[in-house]
Amino acid sequence: MANNNMMKKKMVCLAIVFLSMGLVARVSGENELIVLNTENLSLVMEVDDRGVLLHRYFGKRLQDPSPFLSKTLYRTDEYGTRNEAYSTMGGKNFREPALRVTHHDGDLNTELRYARSERMIDHDKNRSELVIHLEDTKHPFRVKLVYRAYRAEDTFTMHAEIENGEEGEVVLGNYYSFYLPVEARGYWLTHFHGIATTEMSVVEARLTPGMKTIQSRKGLRSTHSENPSFLLSLDGPLRENGGEVIAGALAWGGNYRINFDLDEFGTLNISAGINPYASEYRLSPEETFVTPEMVFTYSARGAGDASRNLHDWARKDGLYDPAAIRPVVLNSWEGVYFDFDEKVLREMIDGAAALGIEMFVLDDGWFGNNYPRNSAAAGLGDWQVNKDKLPGGIDALARYAESKGVKFGIWIEPEMVNPRSDLANRHPEWIVKAGGREVPTRRNQWVLDMTNPEVQDFVFDTFDSVLKLSDRISYVKWDANRHIESVGSAWLPPERQSHFWVDYTRGLYKVYERIREKYPDIIIQACSSGGGRVDYGSLKYHQDFWTSDNTDAFSRAFIQYGTNLVYPAIATGAHFSHVPNRHTRRIIPAKFRMDMAMTGRLGFEMKLADLTSDEAAPIKKAIAQYKQVRDIIQFGDLYRIVSPYDESGYYALMYVSKDKKRALFFAFCLDYKGYLSTVNFKLNGLDGDTSYRIRELNNEKPAFWAEGRNIDGDFLMKEGINPNLQNIYQSMVLYLEASQDGSKPEEKGKQQTSTATVIHTEEF
Ligand code: GLA
Repeated sequence: MANNNMMKKKMVCLAIVFLSMGLVARVSGENELIVLNTENLSLVMEVDDRGVLLHRYFGKRLQDPSPFLSKTLYRTDEYGTRNEAYSTMGGKNFREPALRVTHHDGDLNTELRYARSERMIDHDKNRSELVIHLEDTKHPFRVKLVYRAYRAEDTFTMHAEIENGEEGEVVLGNYYSFYLPVEARGYWLTHFHGIATTEMSVVEARLTPGMKTIQSRKGLRSTHSENPSFLLSLDGPLRENGGEVIAGALAWGGNYRINFDLDEFGTLNISAGINPYASEYRLSPEETFVTPEMVFTYSARGAGDASRNLHDWARKDGLYDPAAIRPVVLNSWEGVYFDFDEKVLREMIDGAAALGIEMFVLDDGWFGNNYPRNSAAAGLGDWQVNKDKLPGGIDALARYAESKGVKFGIWIEPEMVNPRSDLANRHPEWIVKAGGREVPTRRNQWVLDMTNPEVQDFVFDTFDSVLKLSDRISYVKWDANRHIESVGSAWLPPERQSHFWVDYTRGLYKVYERIREKYPDIIIQACSSGGGRVDYGSLKYHQDFWTSDNTDAFSRAFIQYGTNLVYPAIATGAHFSHVPNRHTRRIIPAKFRMDMAMTGRLGFEMKLADLTSDEAAPIKKAIAQYKQVRDIIQFGDLYRIVSPYDESGYYALMYVSKDKKRALFFAFCLDYKGYLSTVNFKLNGLDGDTSYRIRELNNEKPAFWAEGRNIDGDFLMKEGINPNLQNIYQSMVLYLEASQDGSKPEEKGKQQTSTATVIHTEEF
């Protein structure tokens, strides 16, 4: 019987290795499978006998998915229990719809049916794209689901392209990018929350029936509060090195929403995309709405593996210029704030040069003349060099930096305006405001209306004119220090005011596209009061992000741990700064601060002249060491060894080069756990058959017992090592390098102890 069914039904399974492009012919009444594979994962959909696209499977790669064609579901369709691949309002669907449309004739229903699909494979044979064409049963209304599979990275992306072929306007209510039904016995959601200074705090909870939503309605600084990303653990709480995990992140820097809708049948329906909040979007006839991309992955080996997949994807396609080494930066903000002149900045550059720092970034405060930017109260929008502070101009400073072997960068916040500015006087119509209502300020500033093409030109011109201040500018810190409320646009017509949230972000991205066209080589850092713009939509245009204004190394253990669950270290700005810390008032030893900053894209945030001579020399050495090993941090695999949330009181992590020949181990003591307490860390990600020579970095007098020894990866991963970190704020960095001598374990055993060693081993 099953075989008969199989004969009748048709399976379409195209292996990723085949370069294939074409249509999947479909005969009505037959079921088809559509399979998209990566190296280790499969995504399986089925077109049922009525042409509905169903989701069937997402997980470890299946050798043969064809039994899905006969695997009985048992549940009737009575209650809308079928797992649609992209659910709509209409038919028997009672779940949160991925798509909800009011058609031109007022019809609120949409019932999509499969029309055809196409596949393409990239030249490097690593990325394959599957486009599934769906059509409404009643209206000429079409949806393309675009899936991309990244073979080596075991990662997928998905987005939708929604096309109005009707004779009148349609209104999109929900228009999510991503929809995924998941079936497990229980679901544990890990997600992120936090405001400026507590970004990416990690929280986990078991999902209960009903809907859990993570979202932003702030328009800007959209990753303060929550982040559009998650890790979902199936059948038990999230584990680092085991268990089934689905991880996802939405590539959108505007209002987003991710829903986890646990229905009465135990299915968890995940939908993710632009937040429908006050965002009904009108589509004219023949217009197509392209939703942002959702990136997602699966692992049966826990959070560590899922993070590494996302990092690998980001370093392939998610970040701007992913293959370039990131420089060591000195940013002026915490060192001088608004209070500087040329002499002060030259001293900062001298300090940077003396320590081997590669990039000096002049932060806020360098512009405005009628309304000088001497505090956050005035000047935003007036991007001319302040003549009192910098009479020689930016070029003189940039040349000075160059003469010292340091590159030059500059801060801008081009989407904003202070009421006290020439720009606000000149263009009141450019300000985001609900006409006739009070226009509230935040941080004394208003937001410019990026839906307006004139404003887009202004923002582009701002970037362009700032870059023209010197042809030696190679880095721009792009800030955005408020979110949006009292939304309204003088540009958008009344019936399209609800386009504001979407069109703001689209307007911004249009500007970025123009900037990247003209300035492909400039490093642009995403900053939004710290980590308010940490998302894969923004990162497409940015090499790195400012993780948090909180540079306290203790807080950073939590912030960077959370951030790196989803976003890679190469993009994670981590700066050494003054003590007491400006936010927390904590006084943390320089070594710990330095070690923590080295776990990301290293930088500094202080007047280097304030370093004591005891601090400066080791820091100089540590910077030199960082440069030698940063490729491991920036391009290697992250293995989290102990979470800072763990009650052990430690934070430990490793980076391992892709060839497993070099690795770094970082351990930090965050809490005192008692006299003579000692902790052992099992390393991870090494090659068990390789022997590694161990060397401590950033320590003038290494006293660790393993210093200079060769120890097998096997031992390091099974037994582990025990750096003697007993006191709060002690830390250690170890550099492991595959030893060249090829010595046998017994010989190494002899090297490792000064007394005679006898190893009795029984061979079986
Ligand atoms: C924000 C940023 C800081 C700094 C200031 C300047 O707060 O996060 O790093 O650039 O703005 O005003």
